[in-house]
Amino acid sequence: MSRYAGHVQILTATHAGTTRGVTITAACSVSDNPGTVLACVARENPLNAPFVQAGAFALNTLAARHQPLADVFSGLAGIDADQRFAHGDWDTMVTGAPCLVDAPAVYDCRLIEAREVATHLVLIGRVEGLRLGEPGRALLYLDRAYHQI
Ligand SMILES: Cc1cc2nc3c(=O)[nH]c(=O)nc-3n(C[C@H](O)[C@H](O)[C@H](O)COP(=O)(O)O)c2cc1C
Repeated sequence: MSRYAGHVQILTATHAGTTRGVTITAACSVSDNPGTVLACVARENPLNAPFVQAGAFALNTLAARHQPLADVFSGLAGIDADQRFAHGDWDTMVTGAPCLVDAPAVYDCRLIEAREVATHLVLIGRVEGLRLGEPGRALLYLDRAYHQI
């Protein structure tokens, strides 16, 4: 899988006062009309339960300048899960999931299907809120390292 070049994104959700954000690359567009995306998260991690419980999630794409934020939300920066949203500028749009204010694109989604596949949960979301920021260099992950394009 390290040979896949993946766009680094932060998947977020809020449920019953618990806010969760995870750096992921396993996410992509499914359809543009209606706007539909998918994202995959490890299902053995109990901290990922809010992605299903909330019935909504936001997919926040990252620009090259967001690399430190990608480290925060992957745990690589050594910051506890409940402290991560102190980093970056976050608001909400339609569903209540945290949205990164200066992301190149934010897809705020209603969860329409969650399917268990192997070790992961495949979350399929209908886009209910869309915000486009400044275009620019995207943050990618390939061969276990960050790249920009
Ligand atoms: C570049 C990169 C891509 C990642 N992609 C995914 C992914 O697609 N799905 C996933 O569940 N975890 C992915 N992870 C791992 C999660 O970010 C990590 O397990 C999670 O943030 C750990 O959070 P916790 O310490 O709060 O459990 C990725 C990590 C990095 C650095």
